Amino acid sequence: MSEDILQTHKLLPRCEEELARRFTVHKLHEAADKDALIAELAPRVRAIAGSNVNAALMDKLPKLEIIANFGVGYDTIDTAAAKQRNIRVTNTPNVLNDAVAEITLGLMIGLARRIPQADQFVRQGKWTPTSGFGLLTELNGKTVGILGLGRIGKEIAVRCQAMKMRVVYHGRSQQKDEPYVYYDKLVDMARDSDWLVLIAPGGKGTDKIVSREVLEALGPEGFLVNVARGTLVDEAAMLELLQSKKLGGAALDVFEKEPAMDQAFWALDNVVLSPHQGSATNQTRNKMGDLVVANLVAHFAGEPLLSAVV
Ligand code: GLV
Repeated sequence: MSEDILQTHKLLPRCEEELARRFTVHKLHEAADKDALIAELAPRVRAIAGSNVNAALMDKLPKLEIIANFGVGYDTIDTAAAKQRNIRVTNTPNVLNDAVAEITLGLMIGLARRIPQADQFVRQGKWTPTSGFGLLTELNGKTVGILGLGRIGKEIAVRCQAMKMRVVYHGRSQQKDEPYVYYDKLVDMARDSDWLVLIAPGGKGTDKIVSREVLEALGPEGFLVNVARGTLVDEAAMLELLQSKKLGGAALDVFEKEPAMDQAFWALDNVVLSPHQGSATNQTRNKMGDLVVANLVAHFAGEPLLSAVV
């Protein structure tokens, strides 16, 4: 008899096949009556694969031992509640660093050179012998301030250096052996930066850390890039500052509400919008799925977890 596990959302085919090969998988997202499924599984489910696990769900599954989160960010798992109940939590770090760093640079170039707007300009037949798209800006020679010089932040930093940018950073503390200038105040970094790139974890510790004051410090010539979590930014203030051009532009892969983002963003020409797709390549998402499976397999084999956060 294989262990029963609860899956909370759709995963990639390779991950779902591997889970099904090793476990008896119950798909909460496909259940017509979710409460009934949870009640039926309560006496035997020891593992969850997927995100969005709150304390109430943990309480309904008294045998739960491990939550294998799909994603490096685990802000949709109540880790404090998990800790209290001796439930382990794993995430999927490292395997997505390159993909997220790549899209960050893509968004930066897309915003600086207005690539989505340029595409529309051509498609709409606006490119004529007498009309030009206009002259824009470049990354080289500019300063980029990175909020969160973690695993992904470091990959973004080296790519920004390859673009001949000056890299500075802010985080909870200065890191040893990093060549970049550290700012202990985010607002000061924003004031001194042309670009502000957000790649810090979500959750209570960073909620609206990019405040109106920080956005105003970045200013009318400044560009914001968010590939972290929408919760990091005071979104209402950002929208207002983008509308009034007191903030130069923004490239946003994440929003306060997803996918039901504030549609006022759609009308702005100084933004590039992206549907939370930092890690969304087959290559990377499969590696993330492999790590979910590997953590569950290790747990049931009594071996050390590969990437535990709790
Ligand atoms: C994506 O947002 C992740 O946390 O992996």
